[in-house]
Amino acid sequence: NGLPPVYNEPVWDYVKGVDDDNRANIREACQVVRNETVDIPCVINGEEIYSGNTVDQLAPSQHELTIARIHHADEAMIKRAIDGAVEARKEWELMPWEHRAAVFLRAADMLTTEYRFRALATTMIGQGKNVYQAEIDAAAEAADFFRFGVHYANEILHQQPEHHAAHVWNRLTYRALEGFVAAVPPFNFTAIGANLGACPAIMGNSVLWKPTETAALSNFTIFQILREAGIPDGVIQFVPSYGPTFGDTVAADPRLAAINFTGSTKTFDHLTQLVASRVSTYNTYPRLIGECGGKNFHWLHESADVEDTVNGTIRSAFEYQGQKCSACSRVYVPRSLWPEYKAGMIEALKELRVGQPDEFSSFMTAVIDEKSFDKISGYIEHARQSDDYEILFGGECDKSTGYFIQPTMIQTTDPKSRLMQEEIFGPVVTAYVYEDEDWESCLQTVNETSPYGLTGAVYARDRSVIDTSLRVLHHAAGNIYINAKSTGSVVGQQPFGGARRSGTNDKAGAANYLLRFTSIQSAKECL
Ligand code: ALA
Repeated sequence: NGLPPVYNEPVWDYVKGVDDDNRANIREACQVVRNETVDIPCVINGEEIYSGNTVDQLAPSQHELTIARIHHADEAMIKRAIDGAVEARKEWELMPWEHRAAVFLRAADMLTTEYRFRALATTMIGQGKNVYQAEIDAAAEAADFFRFGVHYANEILHQQPEHHAAHVWNRLTYRALEGFVAAVPPFNFTAIGANLGACPAIMGNSVLWKPTETAALSNFTIFQILREAGIPDGVIQFVPSYGPTFGDTVAADPRLAAINFTGSTKTFDHLTQLVASRVSTYNTYPRLIGECGGKNFHWLHESADVEDTVNGTIRSAFEYQGQKCSACSRVYVPRSLWPEYKAGMIEALKELRVGQPDEFSSFMTAVIDEKSFDKISGYIEHARQSDDYEILFGGECDKSTGYFIQPTMIQTTDPKSRLMQEEIFGPVVTAYVYEDEDWESCLQTVNETSPYGLTGAVYARDRSVIDTSLRVLHHAAGNIYINAKSTGSVVGQQPFGGARRSGTNDKAGAANYLLRFTSIQSAKECL
């Protein structure tokens, strides 16, 4: 197929004494973000529009720091963006595929070289990630989405029927969806902004990319890279806007061809209802691609290696303050392992440092915003007030200078209590201790407790236990990990997405995802 070989972008580790130049560069890039307030325009048909209707992007870890002023699009501008996108698609989708591929391959290269530190710094200060978390997100995963997106698109676009009756030639022709794609990414991964806002364009679509306010600067950085890499005007329209205005306006347009969403289950429900209420008005059934909430678990069997499990739980539950959609939030531990597990967790928790994102020693920083802070601290307060729980570690919350919540470990006596069922989206993990011999019924409890089905981990060495757990938990986790933590899926290696109330399970980072953005015509020609 002639494409350059596809690979996962190597993750840089910024080790003191080894990578001192990179450490200095990232410090400097963060300082630039700290010192500036970027005016982020809407970009429609290549025109930058500063509407004056602004919302600030604040640093989660420092209240007085405004890093961007986001100029919102109103309804009329969103409508103009739709018209422009539909127009721009016509040429883009018919352009020889190689040109589309080249734009994205070039963008991946630019992102990982000259713009790497900028992409990281906007993610670190803007979304409160430490350098390691920003590196796996804004550099590695974002570039992977572009490179693997091209790789999978190339596979899809060249798939043809293998069987032909005598004197017949069957062919498939791939085109973009007829209309436009509305992309609504979350704050927690810059890479998801890149994947949702840009990757449908690899398949020839045009997209309205509505960044969320708390990740606007990093998303804008990626968008600017794509412009410099040569994406034609109008193919990706950058339209920061008030969520309900955006949702109502795109849903009211008969040309809506897909909603590409990652965020809360509640918002995805709402968008689905909006589309359903108008379903007969669309030119084509809009495709709904959603990755939503989760209540991810780590389940330990008595045959598990406790040290591995402790390391995995600490990383999964507390990296990025527990704000990955895949973060571990509930743990099930057999009684025989509990003393060792609990002691290991508390010892490790004592070592976690909470600080500013651009301090290399920070394991955690602040949670994203006040709404999030209030929700998480509310759950901790609920645990404090209720007899069902004991706070084993942490529990302090302080929003005086930034939205800081200490890593918190809670034990519950009720596996169906609120903290074992509801999504918290913060640095809080709740553990339930079960009797060793009840492991099978405990697996049933894991399966039945939560309405979600995003990620989970099984820690066991016993093969038949692993086998049983995978069967019982099939729908409880679209991504399941065996003796590995529940976070950190890699594009091209572990396609990502959940079922049940966690979404449509379309598997980002795999060909499945791109298949949602193509409309196939099947042709039979008699020879
Ligand atoms: N893909 C991200 C992870 O697996 C959400 O952690």
